[in-house]
Amino acid sequence: TKMADPTKERTFIAVKPDGVQRGLIGDIMKRFEQRGYKLVASKLCMPGKAHLEKHYSDLSSKPFFAGLVTYMNSGPIFAMVWEGKQVVKMGRVLLGATNPLESNPGTIRGDFCIDVGRNVCHGSDAVESAQKEINLWFKPEELLTYEANAKPWIYE
Ligand code: PPS
Repeated sequence: TKMADPTKERTFIAVKPDGVQRGLIGDIMKRFEQRGYKLVASKLCMPGKAHLEKHYSDLSSKPFFAGLVTYMNSGPIFAMVWEGKQVVKMGRVLLGATNPLESNPGTIRGDFCIDVGRNVCHGSDAVESAQKEINLWFKPEELLTYEANAKPWIYE
């Protein structure tokens, strides 16, 4: 039996409506690109309330749930899938902590956020939730398979 290629791990990353309105799409993409990750899908979309409630279904009992869904439904979202070694965990490192007081300068949230309810980006928290979120946000044919020329310069 062959082991799964560790460089093929995928995560779902989204620039939330505040990040899009503040012109942060390019900066956020740049951080994943320059780290060495590979973009396999992206689109600007407004998926609607039902879709967003599904995306955050684990949080439906939280007091902030309704506000979170309204915020996420307030404008376009830039949805992406990034691929590479340990990209789920590393994506969370690049985003920074959810609590703004704990997100370090140098991270996306640490550089751009004050309020947890306006934290400009989302990233999957585990490989299993990444798979679920990718399937929710993208059709299979939107996920591209192609050779990344830089690969031998990034992985040993
Ligand atoms: S929890 O309570 O531990 O499940 O929450 P956490 O994992 O820290 O965050 C889950 C997502 O909920 C968002 N969140 C909030 N939104 C608005 N207001 C408040 N107070 C709030 N607290 C948490 C948080 O940003 C996470 O969203 P994503 O999109 O996954 O980053």
